[in-house]
Amino acid sequence: MERLQKVMAQAGIGSRRACEEMIQSKRVLVNGQPAVLGQKVDPASDTILVDGKPLGRLEPKRYFVLNKPRGYVTTSRDQFARRSVLDLVSLPERVYPVGRLDYDSEGLVLLTNDGELAYRIMHPRFKLPKTYRVRVKGQVSEDAVERLRSGVMLDDGPTQPARVELLKAASDASLLRITITEGRNRQVKRMCAAVGHEVIRLIRESIGPLRLRGLAAGEYRELRSYEVKRLYRAVGL
Ligand code: URA
Repeated sequence: MERLQKVMAQAGIGSRRACEEMIQSKRVLVNGQPAVLGQKVDPASDTILVDGKPLGRLEPKRYFVLNKPRGYVTTSRDQFARRSVLDLVSLPERVYPVGRLDYDSEGLVLLTNDGELAYRIMHPRFKLPKTYRVRVKGQVSEDAVERLRSGVMLDDGPTQPARVELLKAASDASLLRITITEGRNRQVKRMCAAVGHEVIRLIRESIGPLRLRGLAAGEYRELRSYEVKRLYRAVGL
């Protein structure tokens, strides 16, 4: 017996978190009854329906990397009907974005139907580094860099130590490279705000070993098998 959201994630329905939300919003039936969170199922004998459709046999796992332009959300549905990064791809399989990039953020987004990999990339326990190139207003001091490195206090608690490089500092704006392993909501922007600098532009350069490698904004490509293997190794799979 396994937890329902894990079975759903493994079948390529969405991340574990997305599957939990589907269970809570009563979109999932197990043997004809609405599923409840935490329920365990036997994938071999229980009948599981998601939005009325049977959980298929395992779909082939697919992995894509996309260079997100500004002005797209990384969720599939948005209350303001804004454009989604999923509108930029046309793929036979159902894939979904791993983790969030804000509407006005840019850069690397991983799209996959591999629920276990997605879960481990997002969960802070696996400490997978995510690197951002960040332009901020004003001249960042060495002192501010040190504070970002050692951890700043946010309203949801202190941040873990981060890797921070000051690439350029001028009086009107500065450029930083920041690597974090947590990925809380709007974390980089909130960290910069905590040391007095508003973010003007934020581009994700990498997730663990994964890079964009020459993709222009709005373009995507399938991962090579060595890239998938490296990602697996980086999260202990
Ligand atoms: N941190 C942020 O503040 N925004 C993002 O989009 C990603 C990380």
